[in-house]
Amino acid sequence: MPTTSLLDAIRAIVGDRGLLTDSTDTAPYSEDWRRLYQGRTSAVIRPATAQELAEVIRLCAETGTPVVPQGGNTSMVGGAVPNEDGSELVVSTARLNRIRDLDPTDMTLTIESGVTLKAAQTAAAEAGCLLPLSISSEGSAQIGGVLAVNAGGNNTVRYGNARDLVLGLEVVLPDGTIWNGLRRLRKDNTGYCLRQLFVGSEGTLGVITAAVLKLASQPREVAVALCGVASPEAALSLFTRFQAHDPNAINAFELMSGLGMSFVLRHIPGAVLPLETSAPFYVLVELASPRPNAGLHAMLEQVLEQALNTAIVQDAVIAASDAQRAAIWRLREEHSEAQKREGASVKNDVSVPVSKVPAFIRQATATCEALIPGIRVVPFGHMGDGNIHFNLEQPAGSDAAWFLARDHAIMDAVNEVVQAFDGSFSAEHGIGRLKPYMMPDWRGGAELALMQRIKAAIDPGRIMNPGKVLP
Ligand code: MLT
Ligand code: ZN
Repeated sequence: MPTTSLLDAIRAIVGDRGLLTDSTDTAPYSEDWRRLYQGRTSAVIRPATAQELAEVIRLCAETGTPVVPQGGNTSMVGGAVPNEDGSELVVSTARLNRIRDLDPTDMTLTIESGVTLKAAQTAAAEAGCLLPLSISSEGSAQIGGVLAVNAGGNNTVRYGNARDLVLGLEVVLPDGTIWNGLRRLRKDNTGYCLRQLFVGSEGTLGVITAAVLKLASQPREVAVALCGVASPEAALSLFTRFQAHDPNAINAFELMSGLGMSFVLRHIPGAVLPLETSAPFYVLVELASPRPNAGLHAMLEQVLEQALNTAIVQDAVIAASDAQRAAIWRLREEHSEAQKREGASVKNDVSVPVSKVPAFIRQATATCEALIPGIRVVPFGHMGDGNIHFNLEQPAGSDAAWFLARDHAIMDAVNEVVQAFDGSFSAEHGIGRLKPYMMPDWRGGAELALMQRIKAAIDPGRIMNPGKVLP
């Protein structure tokens, strides 16, 4: 357990503002967004600089005190909350929130880890650039957490995952050393690529304190449509039509189910379906171009007209204004929140090859319905890159605790289907505390052994985010 003298020493480094010890203050840092874990901690440390953080981590290493790094606390897998016994200290990156540099010629943004993704996007936009990463929780999620889990989100189909945007990193290592790798080079072949080791390591190898991110050109034309379709198969046909037209124009291609949409319409104030009739599934397609008159609107019209004529699409609406575009995106982005308000859910963040998405959804749906009669299947997500949030809502009127007690059985059944399609059980949310038990099945043998050796080499005292990622 962290001793009073350790906390006093930490207070001497970060000051009163940098240390929360009152249980009312630490409570929000101890529970995850999904409320799966109610942890406990004797202190939340909020350093203002990487130097302060490094000194704190050095003390934790010397005393063998475990540390849980936390950004916006939006993890879907309990990756950033302490355990229940109160032995772990939380390190919040919230005060590391400076934008250190933005270079529109190099097209780079050098930024501290506590800046929210939304604020980082805004900074890029103000300089006429685009930070091409967008996730539903971007208003709260912080850059450090986004990189630590290698977030994906809505624009992966075009720009790749968070990993693909990182040129450099600054990391406080588990012994308190600061590794300054904040280079902004497009070419840099100098031994092992250390930054990529930390991206996706979920705070188990160190705390990311700053990063250099690659920027893109700001789109000058954007066109968004919402389409009602009969099935995921129809959604895939629509995707291949857009691909055939111009694969580089596709900025996002998101799938939603009729049930998921009904939850949004029921629980999210102001949400309205802008189509005349409801549909079994919906697609949100966004096209974008850095050129001002790229003809995207016409392209959207042309593809959708053909799709309507061939019954691939049942109904469609093209946003006529920025406000309509935002309203359509809101229907997609509020899916998680609406699902939470509807009741208890089990989430599977999986990926399969894009061509296999419809068959996967069909088979996984049948599997879950056979497992728990009345279970409500809510598949949605990033169809354009093959990442489906295959979420399951408790049967209407059932007991939430009864349903959640079946979470492993449900996840394991879905994962069997994912495996049959050569997919991944962890596409963009990470492993956190929820899924380490799955690792031996999926990454057993040499791969997991190598990960264990890397962990032992970098964090021999095993103080960084214990119980996360590795079994
Ligand atoms: C999203 O894309 O909205 C989140 O990653 C999803 C989720 O709730 O599973
Ligand atoms: Zn997602």
